[in-house]
Amino acid sequence: MDYNFMTEMEGFLDREHSELLEQMSEIAAGKGKVAELYGEILSIFSYHLDKEEETVIPLLAYLKSRSTARSEVGFHDLESASRKFIGDAEEMISEHREMAQIIEKVASAKESGSSQKAAEIGRSLLHHVELEEEILYPAAEAACELLALEKNSTAGRQVR
Ligand SMILES: [Fe+2]
Ligand SMILES: [Fe+2]
Repeated sequence: MDYNFMTEMEGFLDREHSELLEQMSEIAAGKGKVAELYGEILSIFSYHLDKEEETVIPLLAYLKSRSTARSEVGFHDLESASRKFIGDAEEMISEHREMAQIIEKVASAKESGSSQKAAEIGRSLLHHVELEEEILYPAAEAACELLALEKNSTAGRQVR
């Protein structure tokens, strides 16, 4: 079977981050309230995305490597991704809330021209966040648990 759900999800996250970053930057570069609000979202999104790329993406890659029996990520990198995810997940979820609150303000800031596109991008961002919280974060959490189990099961033996 060629299809691999984790490969799909890992690629999806990367792709959506670049797309959202590009679209939101376009709107933020304009003038007015909506542009200003997108500037606020971007100030959160840009570092939020870095955290996800350092934690969720390698953890998804780890799940993928388990299902294809290929190791693409170093164990030590994974350990630090796992530690960082466990430490930062709560904060990352509250950053989702903060961005969602700003999107609500975008929806109520009625401006001609940019509004419809801004609202559409807002919906894409909310959808992105929902998918992360319902599927990708739980998958990353499961990856952390698997890693801990693997570490314990190899604890008595000298590995790598
Ligand atoms: Fe994301
Ligand atoms: Fe996120």
